[in-house]
Amino acid sequence: MDKFELLISPDKIASRIKEIASELDEKFQNEVPIFIGILNGSFMFMADLLRQISVDCEMDFIKLSSYHGSASSGTVRLLKDISADITGRHVVIVEDIVDSGLTIRFIKERMAEADPASLTLVSLLLKPELAKLDFPIDIVGFEISPEFVVGYGLDYDQKFRNFDGIYRLKEGSADF
Ligand code: IMP
Repeated sequence: MDKFELLISPDKIASRIKEIASELDEKFQNEVPIFIGILNGSFMFMADLLRQISVDCEMDFIKLSSYHGSASSGTVRLLKDISADITGRHVVIVEDIVDSGLTIRFIKERMAEADPASLTLVSLLLKPELAKLDFPIDIVGFEISPEFVVGYGLDYDQKFRNFDGIYRLKEGSADF
């Protein structure tokens, strides 16, 4: 743990999640939205966010692979599709981090094919300096600088997802 530096504390994450949940409750007060978490990274955010949502809602997961080690491979593969029929539904995509924007673009285009009533994109983190997007992310938890972070669901080679906050690697710590 001494190789890592806390970037966003569990308390800060929890209070931002409450704000995001209120915004979504307000937006969907007369609807039953379906939340779709992008595995594996969003599992913790999804669990904490849904515990703060008050409107009736459903949930599902989609699993993609777009990232290897600390550099984006530039391609997105679908490893597990959603089971729910989202045609005519209000869909909320729950992502851990938007880095290059490749993954969220893939999801957005794939979901749009099913003709949902609405599509809301939520990401806990956004690296605005890197993301090349020609569409908005509707709700962003925190904007961060373009550095590699782990914890709160985010991994490096599948490790460190269990950390309860968001951490960056300390200067001079070349290896995890
Ligand atoms: P994008 O397709 O380049 O936007 O990358 C999105 C995916 O890459 C996320 O869902 C993460 O799984 C992973 N990713 C991007 N940046 C980081 C990071 O700083 N730490 C851990 N995973 C990351």
